[in-house]
Amino acid sequence: MTPSSAPSARPTIVLAVSGSIAAYKAVEVARLLKKAGARVLPVMTRSAKEFLGPSTLSGICGEPVREDMWDPSYAGELHVELGRSADLVVIVPATADLLARLASGRADDLLTALALCARGPILAAPAMHPRMWTHPAVARNVATLRADGRVELIGPVEGEVASGERGPGRMAEPAEIAEAALARIGPRDLDGRRIVVTAGPTVEDLDPVRFLSNRSTGKMGFAIAERAAARGAEVTLVAGPVSLETPPRVKRVDVRGALSMRSALWEALGEKLDLADALIMTAAVADYRPAEESATKLKRSAEATALALVPNPDLLAEVGAARAGSRPVLVGFAVETADEAGVVAYARGKLDKKRVDLVVANHAKDSFGREDNRATIVTRDRAEALGVLPKRELADRILDRVAEGLR
Ligand code: CTP
Repeated sequence: MTPSSAPSARPTIVLAVSGSIAAYKAVEVARLLKKAGARVLPVMTRSAKEFLGPSTLSGICGEPVREDMWDPSYAGELHVELGRSADLVVIVPATADLLARLASGRADDLLTALALCARGPILAAPAMHPRMWTHPAVARNVATLRADGRVELIGPVEGEVASGERGPGRMAEPAEIAEAALARIGPRDLDGRRIVVTAGPTVEDLDPVRFLSNRSTGKMGFAIAERAAARGAEVTLVAGPVSLETPPRVKRVDVRGALSMRSALWEALGEKLDLADALIMTAAVADYRPAEESATKLKRSAEATALALVPNPDLLAEVGAARAGSRPVLVGFAVETADEAGVVAYARGKLDKKRVDLVVANHAKDSFGREDNRATIVTRDRAEALGVLPKRELADRILDRVAEGLR
């Protein structure tokens, strides 16, 4: 099995081991993660192999141990594939040398290279002699990692270390590491649910070189697709033209104009709306398109001119109108420039007009292109102002509501 094999509903964890006596405890962490239902892909540094037999780890994980970036038996970029497919990377144990290499952004072996490629969180469990842990150089590396915010540490704890001495440097217990790892992957409450997400702008062509579009970057929709897949859903992401990487285990369909988004959407939902449990419509679908698309470049003239536009179909309202029961759960988005009360009032209007279950109302100036978003989730009976949240977190809050609606 390769890291890029077929989408799986199971969370994928890269368990990386570096060279310390505490390496033997990684086996127990692997066992606990497997027991909790995760797919565990083991990676070892060269020195880790001095402390732990790779066969033990591959036997427990049921996956080959990877160490070599240039493994000739693997046709692809192993560090990229592993970084992409991992919902989480757990490093057990993390040595002083490894922390230094992570802090300086080195990529001189598979583990450090994949840490730079990892899409999900990285959790590292340091283990070393107390004098090493308290050394200013190690403290500096730890401070750098904390400031960068990409590697989270668990432990070390105060206790007996390999030499028999006591102090801070003992690795956190395997059960504690496994629990922290599983908590970072989050709930699997969307297991087996089929969720369609639309994202990005639509681009309405005027001629071969010009188009009408909007400022949507697709980040919100991609964050929702990523989190939904991480929570176990089978996700189809219908994306307008954006420059974002496809989240792991997400099926992506690229479209351009509103009409092509409409076709892709109905294909994903099924004509009878029986192929999806929820539709989350973050795409900023253009309301109008040019009445005619010229096959050749339109030429400039000295005259004033006007552009004839025709309305696009309202894709979400079409689905709302076709839906007979409560499936799929329908989520609309609204970007407004009004104040909070106005935003909620507009959103309520959209609930009825489009016959959807909830509307996520955004404030235009706090949403486009940003990593965070100020949103209010509006249903018929409540409006929950969430304040400014990172888009991944907002994605989880929206999915909490979808999961509620699906129960
Ligand atoms: N939407 C859609 N098809 C369209 C326009 C919008 O499916 N042609 C969906 C969007 O994906 C989003 C929601 O409807 O979920 C936004 O609706 P709306 O606010 O009506 O779009 P605006 O054009 O911004 O609305 P208005 O002009 O009323 O402010």
